[in-house]
Order: sequence, then C-alpha cells, then structure tokens
Amino acid sequence: MTSVLHRPTDDTKLSSLPEEVRARLQDRFKLVVPARSAADPSPSPVIEEAPNNPDVQPIVSLTNVEKIYTNGSKALTGVNLTVNPGDFLFVTGPSGSGKSTLLKLLYGYERPTNGNILVSDEPISNLRGNRLAMMRRRIGVVFQDYKLIPKRTVAENVAFVLWAQGFTRKEIHRRLWPTLKMVGLQGKAQCFPDELSGGEQQRVSIARAVVNTPPLLLADEPTGNLDADNSLQVIKILKKLNSIGITVIVTTHDEHLVRISNHPVVQIKNGRLHHLRR
Ligand SMILES: Nc1ncnc2c1ncn2[C@@H]1O[C@H](COP(=O)(O)OP(=O)(O)O)[C@@H](O)[C@H]1O
Ligand SMILES: [Mg+2]
Repeated sequence: MTSVLHRPTDDTKLSSLPEEVRARLQDRFKLVVPARSAADPSPSPVIEEAPNNPDVQPIVSLTNVEKIYTNGSKALTGVNLTVNPGDFLFVTGPSGSGKSTLLKLLYGYERPTNGNILVSDEPISNLRGNRLAMMRRRIGVVFQDYKLIPKRTVAENVAFVLWAQGFTRKEIHRRLWPTLKMVGLQGKAQCFPDELSGGEQQRVSIARAVVNTPPLLLADEPTGNLDADNSLQVIKILKKLNSIGITVIVTTHDEHLVRISNHPVVQIKNGRLHHLRR
C-alpha cells in the first residue's frame, strides 16, 4: 500500500509504475497538497452529528468472546461487552492483559476463537475481502506508535485515506483542512512526520483516523509514548470527537487519565473483562 506513496522524486517503485497510473497519482497529490498552507477561508464542518435516537442498537457487542492465539497464548476469555453509539469507553489493564487484542478483534485484524462480535450490526469476524474492507472504512484506528508514512507530509498522510477510498478532489479538500484544524495542525500541513513532536504526530494520526467521519474510533494506547501534557491534549481531542457523535473506545494503562474523567471504564485482567465504572 505504501509503495505508491513515497515522494515521486526519490521513489524507484513509483517510477516503475505505468505512466498513466503515475501521472494520476502525482496529479492527485498535487491537488490535495495546495501550495499555500493556509486553511480554507470557510471550511465546512467535517463531522456530521450522530442522530440522537434512544432506540439505536449497540455499535459494538461482544458475547462470550474468547481469543487464543495460534501459539496457545490465551488473550481473552468470556468477554461480554456492549458499547452504544455515542459512548466513550476507557479500557484499562496491565500490559499483556488483552487490551490490544480486544481492539484488533473489533476492527477485524484478529478473529475470535469463540464467541460473537457485532460492529454496527455486522459480524465483523465473519467478514472477508471487500466486505471487511468496506466495514473498516467505518472504523477509525489510532495506534500508540502513530504509523504515519514518513515520506509524506501531514496533509498527504491525512488525505491519502480519502484518496484511497475514492473521494473526489473537492471532497478531499473540503474535509482535509477542517480536520487538520480540529487537531490544531493546520499550520503544519506541509511538514513531514520527522519534523513534528510525538504529540503532533499522534494528532496527525487522529486526523487520519477521523477524516472520513467513521462512527467508531478505536485508539490503542494513544498516549503511551507521550508526556502528561500531550496525553491530556490527545484525550481532549478524543473527547471533542466524542462530543460530536463519534463513539470512542480508548485503551490506556494510565490510571491518571482515567481518574480525571467520568467516562465508563472497563478493565481487562488476565483476559477477563470487568466493569469498573459504568
Ligand atoms: N500475535 C500474537 N500471537 C501470540 N500471542 C499474542 C499475540 N498478540 C498478543 N499475544 C498475547 O496475548 C496476550 C494479550 O496481549 P495484548 O492484547 O497485546 O495485551 P495488551 O494490549 O493489554 O498489552 C499477551 O499474553 C500477548 O503475549
Ligand atoms: Mg497493547
């Protein structure tokens, strides 16, 4: 996936692409990275509000989920969990307890050994190929180590998601700037990841995760590599996204972050999930 993303000037893989494909890629990226870095004069809001319907179905539902990795490692046992649209849920627990496994099951990166998982009413663990890919478009994911494309600018890293999903140039432009603004990075649009602090890189990765307005955002230890100030800033952005309707599930082993908020908390210990605060 990343091979076509390197800078056209220094990438041998890109130069090996057929002329027509290369031209199209370069053309698109020129457009999503305008020469001026100033924000659009009147960007339209990027994230639509979720409908406030009390009868909505859970957005995430796990029933008796068990995950045993092929090497025999038992990561989750008897996990039952319901997350409603608009919830903000903290998942805590010590290292190795199964937090990442839980999120991986939710975005279909891993499959449960037993039990059922529904995401937006879809049995994500049964989906394959195109259907899984379509489903994943509805789930934003943020990782502890950002996973940005080093040779692409901030704007390109974020815009790529939209481009890959076939959004029009106009729509890419319409969404890109308000999203960068939302994470406070409109002034860094032309920077490369290695020109940013850890906190800024994490904010790029959040922008990338939500630029296509997914109803569900999963963040796996998003503050794990950040100092206290940057951690707070990241949590503040996640809360802001939640306040405009995105369901957020965030794992952390930072007790302080959990204590200073009043959101529901579950804890995973030895693969078992416990409700600490509803
Ligand atoms: N791909 C894997 N293969 C085998 N075992 C794994 C794999 N990923 C995680 N595990 C094991 O599953 C358990 C839970 O891991 P993980 O979900 O990463 O925990 P956490 O995110 O809470 O630190 C650990 O014992 C870990 O070693
Ligand atoms: Mg983890």
